[in-house]
Amino acid sequence: MPKRHPTLIPLSQDHHHALALALRCRKQGLGQIKPMGAKGLRERATEFLGLYARELISHFRAEEEILFPRLRAQVPDSDQLIDELLRDHESIRRAIPKLEAGTSLGKLIFDLGDLLERHIRREERELFPLFEQHAELMNAEEIGEKINRILSARLKE
Ligand SMILES: [Fe+2]
Ligand SMILES: [Fe+2]
Repeated sequence: MPKRHPTLIPLSQDHHHALALALRCRKQGLGQIKPMGAKGLRERATEFLGLYARELISHFRAEEEILFPRLRAQVPDSDQLIDELLRDHESIRRAIPKLEAGTSLGKLIFDLGDLLERHIRREERELFPLFEQHAELMNAEEIGEKINRILSARLKE
């Protein structure tokens, strides 16, 4: 991934972890990694739920409460992109109880991996560059501090 604005680095690090998991989920859904079948799918479901609880909940919060509103306010062109990214978050949230239930995991794990991968790539390729282009107009340092405050809460959980 490209060198990021300092404000975005903690979010980018999360993306790195989440992207690796997304790719594993997609491969698992396609039966390309062992153990195959139900056992492997359950492993990926557990892994997904773990990363969701540890990192993604607070990651989404930092984006939804800080980054997205600040970008929207400063860059009106970002509106549609942010709406779509919010819908992705919602789809991922809605999948969590299904992962916990553990039924029809094959399609679910594949779809979730695919969605998470596309979501992260859009943020890295479209949203973050938009922030970087306008960083000087925004109080990037203050935004960074607020993001870090939300992300650092996970250490105490
Ligand atoms: Fe996101
Ligand atoms: Fe993100």
